[in-house]
Amino acid sequence: MCGIVGYIGKSKASPILIKGLSKLEYRGYDSAGIATIEDDKICHIKNKGRVKELENSNKLENLKGTIGIAHTRWATHGKPSSINAHPHLDSHENFAVVHNGIIENYRELREFLINAGYTFNSETDSEIIPNLIDYYYSKETSNDKFLNAVHNAEKDLKGSYALAILSKFDPNKIIVIKKDSPLVIGTKDNEKYIASDINAILEYTNDIFILKDGDLAYISENKIDFYNNNLNLVNRTPEKITWDAKASDKGDFEDFMLKEIYEQPVSIRETIGTRIVPNKPCDFSDINITKKYLSDISRIYIIACGTAMHAGISVKPIFERLTNIPVEVDIASEFRYRDPLIDEHTLIICISQSGETADTIAALKNAKTCGSKTIAISNVIGSSITREADFTLYTHAGPEIAVASTKAYTAQITLLVLLAIHFAEVLELPKNEIINNLKEELLEIPSKISIILENTDIIKKFAKKIHKETDIFFVGRGIDYATAMESSLKLKEISYIHSDSYQSGELKHGPIALIEDDVTVIGIITDRRLIDKSISNLQEVISRGAKTLIVTNQEIDTKLFPNVFSIPKVHPLISPLVSIVPLQLLSYYVAKEKNLDVDKPRNLAKSVTVE
Ligand code: F6R
Repeated sequence: MCGIVGYIGKSKASPILIKGLSKLEYRGYDSAGIATIEDDKICHIKNKGRVKELENSNKLENLKGTIGIAHTRWATHGKPSSINAHPHLDSHENFAVVHNGIIENYRELREFLINAGYTFNSETDSEIIPNLIDYYYSKETSNDKFLNAVHNAEKDLKGSYALAILSKFDPNKIIVIKKDSPLVIGTKDNEKYIASDINAILEYTNDIFILKDGDLAYISENKIDFYNNNLNLVNRTPEKITWDAKASDKGDFEDFMLKEIYEQPVSIRETIGTRIVPNKPCDFSDINITKKYLSDISRIYIIACGTAMHAGISVKPIFERLTNIPVEVDIASEFRYRDPLIDEHTLIICISQSGETADTIAALKNAKTCGSKTIAISNVIGSSITREADFTLYTHAGPEIAVASTKAYTAQITLLVLLAIHFAEVLELPKNEIINNLKEELLEIPSKISIILENTDIIKKFAKKIHKETDIFFVGRGIDYATAMESSLKLKEISYIHSDSYQSGELKHGPIALIEDDVTVIGIITDRRLIDKSISNLQEVISRGAKTLIVTNQEIDTKLFPNVFSIPKVHPLISPLVSIVPLQLLSYYVAKEKNLDVDKPRNLAKSVTVE
């Protein structure tokens, strides 16, 4: 939820830290802060608001240290304010800490520390951490006082945390710890970079250590010592990350979201990669799912949150059609608490762009304890979920920075469609014709999306027309309902317009009561078999005064429906890959009409690492 950056080397730390924070702002952006060490003293600045305000602070110039930590916050405990912003210092200003995660037992630790003479300024759970370290430091008699004090403090913490810690007693060292929140360390010669996410440091180095849960790293400019939970030294090797650093820049686009919408032809192509092999079954040699296993399972659960869950809904029909195995799609936060009927005959597929979503990871862990096999679908190499799952499959969407997910969604659907095909091939079901047809169609999706991206005038005009509205409805039948749900989520997330999605046939069972003059209803129609039914549902809203926009690849009478956005024809089982694109653009242009910050919508963060 929050973003952490750290630096230790020969250069002035503050510009590197600010740059890193601005790349992590998608993780949280209600306040930001920075701390460095100079003349054996911790100097820090904290501000409410965006990283830009921190960058413009005239006090920043005073931070001259070549070691430092910084943080951009998404509030969990205590409102956004400069006092609640990180870094937090202990009462004696000996230690500074930035924290991502939640300390569940902070109340009792705070009580304990108050009794030990410590005072607190903020409403946060995080402020107990530097105080606890200081407490143990004062009791420590060994030579490695900093290391042992941090280790002892960690033993008291319950919850999730990624921490970066400065000590004025060890002005050339940073200690970091990771448990259930992401943290990476980049290394280059005599410089070390710390971040919540690879993108923040990729312009400096491609050699990245991806920390595991329980890791503690003791970092100086030319050395990193890794310790496990028992403070034994452990070996870690850096990974060579091949992402292009430019992938996390806006380039010529006004916003990351628009850039990411336009990247979809490439991200889908990259996700298909070399999986489709001419005249051969799809290549899924990175997982080991056998015919016997698939024949024995009774059900597949697809579990995720938000947009990733909508990707699951979009692929339920193709899995069922190709594998004859029933599929349930569940919201991770519900699944984990509802004692689902799962066992070794249930396959669990968890989807998470970030790979850090707390509810999805917990659902996957629960499923494992019931004996189910688990597959994680993630976009982030080495993310937490990939370390929990039996198998991991990566989407290759590249870094997604805008909070509202677009290219990760279509990459998830692409990969899941390929997985459904793979399962059918493993099962050796007599479905060659449809499988070959789907493979061909999938390879054509990128160019079909490019056609949509080149013709956006109708969408821009419609966005102008509706941007002042307060309620908008999305309707679709069958697979189009998945697109209606995702479009509605996208619109409310970034434009703050209330919107809802319904299966078209459900309108007359209640929601039609909300339709009156000039209400906007957006219909999605891509399945030829359902066209007549969908049209009569939409006529029912028109006759009650609604205005409509139809996104379709079918022949529609424009006398009945003046606003039609035509999309290329595509196999109905994979149509969500195409039908969502104009509606992502619609949300984007509506939010732009309202002059909103598209990439950083209010109250949201990209990676939801808390429940
Ligand atoms: C919406 C959006 C969220 C995420 C959800 C799951 O645009 O981005 O709904 O899809 O928070 O996130 P991941 O996929 O990282 O688990």
